Amino acid sequence: MRLAFEDVSYSYEGGEAKKRRGRRKKDAARQADWGNAPDAVWALRDVTFTVEPGEFFGVAGHTGSGKSTLIQHMNGLVHPTCGRVLADGRDLAEKGVATEVRRQVGLVFQYPENQLFANTVYDDVAFGPRNMGLGAEEVDRRVREGLALVGLSFDELAERSPFDLSGGQQRRVAFAGVLAMEPEVLVLDEPVAGLDPLSREEFLGLIRELHAGGRTIVMVSHSMEDLAALSDRILVLSEGRVFRLGTPAEVFADAAALKAVGLGAPAPEAFAASLREAGFELGRDLYDERTLAADIAAQLAGTPVAAAPDAAVGFAALRAADAVIEGGGDDA
Ligand SMILES: Nc1ncnc2c1ncn2[C@@H]1O[C@H](COP(=O)(O)OP(=O)(O)O)[C@@H](O)[C@H]1O
Ligand SMILES: [Mg+2]
Repeated sequence: MRLAFEDVSYSYEGGEAKKRRGRRKKDAARQADWGNAPDAVWALRDVTFTVEPGEFFGVAGHTGSGKSTLIQHMNGLVHPTCGRVLADGRDLAEKGVATEVRRQVGLVFQYPENQLFANTVYDDVAFGPRNMGLGAEEVDRRVREGLALVGLSFDELAERSPFDLSGGQQRRVAFAGVLAMEPEVLVLDEPVAGLDPLSREEFLGLIRELHAGGRTIVMVSHSMEDLAALSDRILVLSEGRVFRLGTPAEVFADAAALKAVGLGAPAPEAFAASLREAGFELGRDLYDERTLAADIAAQLAGTPVAAAPDAAVGFAALRAADAVIEGGGDDA
């Protein structure tokens, strides 16, 4: 599925004002919103982009930049105050379209475990498939598959209360509930926020696999490393506007601009930048740990000790290594 945003603006106030005034006066209300409240806070402003089928689409931006508001437009949970969102060319604001698209676009909220509600894990995961009107056998198959995908044991957990599980397990149950709807597009709002390092890596591995299996992924993240490692393209929001949209190499090429909107570069890329300043020649567009280690090793191997960059390099390298260890470049 192709998801296209066309000049989307969204105001939380505008939405409520519109409801009050009723649908018939919708266009007039839009005019009034713009005219009467030019200083109203727009959560999104003139946002235009397309998520291509099969793409891994990252979304970055400081807190309050509009990321969560943006992705809630993707399955028609929220409708633009102005502009359109199209799913394969069909306007999500049209009657019935959002209902249909909601089956194909699975939205996993931030801290989805807060939305668990059923008495058993089984019923929680089955909620979506049952809502789709599927028969008991198909629902059962999907609950089993959903739990298996997130690495939970059906036999051990299906009949337990989700509220007795650990936080990490609860997140998996919530995730399984969305996967059980077998969405073609998965939209994830900070899916690994608050997880311990091991669960974090497992979750990212799962997301990577789901993408490799053909799903389109939209992922909001605070981690520039995760976005750089996984995304085909990254959209950077700032104050509700598109600040950058491009490949990780394109987006992270201008570290100074990103810093100005409250974001860092991925740690290895920031490390590479400080090494360049210290005299290393590092030619790649975007470094991860492995490529950076390889290029440093290659360069040191080819450099006679006497000609190696001076002590300042060692100093800069140590400082940068510190930043990597502390997770520098990640504004979370
Ligand atoms: N339910 C809401 N009511 C009013 N304003 C909101 C609501 N949710 C978010 N906002 C505002 O919309 C803007 C974008 O918020 P959000 O989409 O949550 O950003 P992000 O996910 O990037 O942190 C912020 O200014 C925020 O305060
Ligand atoms: Mg958010």
